[in-house]
Amino acid sequence: MKYVVSGGNKLFGKLKVDSAKNAILPIIAATIMCDEDCVIEDIPLYLDVIEMGLILEKLGKKVEVSNGNMIISGALSSTSVIMAETKTLRSSIFMMGSILSKYRKAIFTYPGGCDIGKRPIDIHLAGLEKLGIKFSFANDLIYSDASKIQGSVVELSFPSVGATENIMMASTLIDGEITVIKNAAREPEIVELARFINSMGGKVFGAGYETIVIYGVKKLYGTTFKCIGDRIAAGTYLIAGAMCGGKIELEGIDPNFLLPLIVFLRNSGCNIDLFSDKITLENFSRLKSCEKIETSIYPGFPTDLQSPMLVMQTISKGTSIIHETVFEARFKVVTELLKMGAKINVSERYATVVGVTKLKPAEVACPDLRGGAGLVLAGLVAKGKTVIDEIFHVERGYYNLDKNLRSLGAIIDKVD
Ligand code: EPZ
Repeated sequence: MKYVVSGGNKLFGKLKVDSAKNAILPIIAATIMCDEDCVIEDIPLYLDVIEMGLILEKLGKKVEVSNGNMIISGALSSTSVIMAETKTLRSSIFMMGSILSKYRKAIFTYPGGCDIGKRPIDIHLAGLEKLGIKFSFANDLIYSDASKIQGSVVELSFPSVGATENIMMASTLIDGEITVIKNAAREPEIVELARFINSMGGKVFGAGYETIVIYGVKKLYGTTFKCIGDRIAAGTYLIAGAMCGGKIELEGIDPNFLLPLIVFLRNSGCNIDLFSDKITLENFSRLKSCEKIETSIYPGFPTDLQSPMLVMQTISKGTSIIHETVFEARFKVVTELLKMGAKINVSERYATVVGVTKLKPAEVACPDLRGGAGLVLAGLVAKGKTVIDEIFHVERGYYNLDKNLRSLGAIIDKVD
């Protein structure tokens, strides 16, 4: 499948931001810890969410989607997470903590994910081993034994989002035991996972701060849950509005999750108004470059918005330097942007961008999820027809992207 984008239109209108992909994925994994009905309301069917649901079904859970909700129930019939889906899906690794918390024994394959870096799991394994879990490795499989699992103080060498979530879930059902996670990741999606676990009767405190305390409980109970809006999708639409010009309104997003982006957009010349659950953006002039952008862990500028921001700099007035500090290979989209006339020079984890007045339409291909979203933004401003291939990458993390952009006045179609 491809997107065909005819650039040049300004964007006007309102969008409802979908629930956050990176909250829903660990939450789906967390339902493994409960046999009763867990209802996730208003669920966007990102490809990653569909894959995660398929993995749970193959493991024995009952998974159904009706009236926009995903209902997950039942017990696992297998704890061998060895299937094709787990090769492509990074978030399958989140199942390690939830399966071991409840079933105490499991086999996993090494997880896959975007081609944005090695994506090791050493921090996950070190943290889980601190809980007394034993791992052995053979034939690209991870054999896990949590029969002697116990609460502990786990200090993460790096505030890894996935590792924080895995250890939080692994500790949830160690009945009567206390686990403390130090140097924990503080992303809003971590807070959502804790809120979900607590809605099932778990006891997780301090999520969103660098120290999280989990009091293990015996059992979890069914729940109905509505997730926060996706701050990365929302940020991507804001950057689209800034680049194309016009006036857009995003509903269902807490502006507090996007403050570093909002500061950059305001300094670039956009008028932005913030409300408790809504953001409006207006821009009718050429953007000024941001000069220096450095990605970092939350609450810093998110690495997942680096590619969209890089594309915004390609047409902004001036020169900007982008420093990607979180992943080691997140500039793959640059080769495609050069085909569209962008002026970018990459050296290790730095990209220097000299703004041009316009990008040229071209035939390009998505290298990864957020790089692909960046190519869509480039197509929206390049006058003429840009054809974007390999869009399955983008649909992993953006739901109805083409439909949403068309509703704002963009000319974008999905074709075979
Ligand atoms: C989550 O990935 C997100 N994915 C990523 O979003 C996001 O970019 C990332 O957090 C950072 O915010 C999901 O939530 C499904 P990390 P995760 O563990 O958990 C290194 C997107 O575009 N590391 O915080 O994998 C790792 O290599 C995706 O939606 C280790 O070295 O991120 C990376 O350099 C992309 N060892 C850094 O830490 C480990 O054991 C951050 O990784 C784990 C991670």
